[in-house]
Amino acid sequence: MGATLAAFMDNYKQQLEKELARRIASIQAPPRLQEAMDYSLQAGGKRLRPLLLLATLESFGKKPQLGLEAAAALEMIHTYSLIHDDLPSMDNDDLRRGKPTNHKVYGEAAAVLAGDALLTYAFQLIAQSEVYTDRQKVQLIASLAEAAGPEGMVAGQMADMEGENQQLTLEELEYIHTNKTGRLLAFSIAAGALLAGASKEQQKHFQTYAYHIGLAFQIQDDILDIEGSEEKMGKPAGSDSAKLKSTYPHLLGMPRTKAMLQEHIDKALSALKQTNTNTQLLAELAELIANRDQ
Ligand code: IPE
Ligand code: IPE
Ligand code: MG
Ligand code: MG
Ligand code: MG
Repeated sequence: MGATLAAFMDNYKQQLEKELARRIASIQAPPRLQEAMDYSLQAGGKRLRPLLLLATLESFGKKPQLGLEAAAALEMIHTYSLIHDDLPSMDNDDLRRGKPTNHKVYGEAAAVLAGDALLTYAFQLIAQSEVYTDRQKVQLIASLAEAAGPEGMVAGQMADMEGENQQLTLEELEYIHTNKTGRLLAFSIAAGALLAGASKEQQKHFQTYAYHIGLAFQIQDDILDIEGSEEKMGKPAGSDSAKLKSTYPHLLGMPRTKAMLQEHIDKALSALKQTNTNTQLLAELAELIANRDQ
């Protein structure tokens, strides 16, 4: 990783985490609910989606801080999705971000509610912003709802559950990956571009970049489930095989999966070049997505 990206990530990860802590502390809620929300949010995590949003602003020469509230909302929705994804009725995993999963600590009912609360509060946070214009708020809320809801991430999660124990086609698997993971990642970029005032043409190229890094991200997630270390990832390896999930390696074998991952990164990088922005951070983030071990 280049020095510039490393410094950018350190700096904004810290700012984001402060913002998340501040927001949760300001909520008037039953203490156990607040604690359960805070537990998963502060458990760590790469904060990749917020960093993509902020790096997109930076690529336009805008102040990344402008994206901090949208990034915090996005990380709340991502974190809710992980809490629910780990539930016994879903992937039934016990470890997340290096710690026992939310339901292991607070019980299933509180984990469901902490997820509900993070999802809903994310929209409250944007709606109450004193930074965004009314028009920006409506655009952010609409596109976040589309990305996270029944036409996006939740659709992908449903298809993922229905695909267990089944041999899927590549097309079906791509549908799952694009939705369960790609859509929220794509929102990161779209929100950054929106707040930066990108032209329609620029938005189109950023969308192509986002589509390919979204797929690449989940392909690498599938690879890491087989090749990764539980200690580094902070979540169990081998979870997909245990649940007989369809994944890229299971469908295509490892060599073809890795070739496909590289193809998506190449396509992402070539779309990025066409955005006419300063793309160094976003290019390095794409490489990081392909090469990450956590
Ligand atoms: C995990 O996302 C869930 C997927 C969409 C594959 P991340 O790998 O970004 O998880 P954190 O946020 O770093 O914990
Ligand atoms: C989950 O995908 C994606 C969402 C939470 C929306 P996975 O089930 O593959 O994520 P991990 O591997 O548990 O992080
Ligand atoms: Mg899952
Ligand atoms: Mg899972
Ligand atoms: Mg996974």
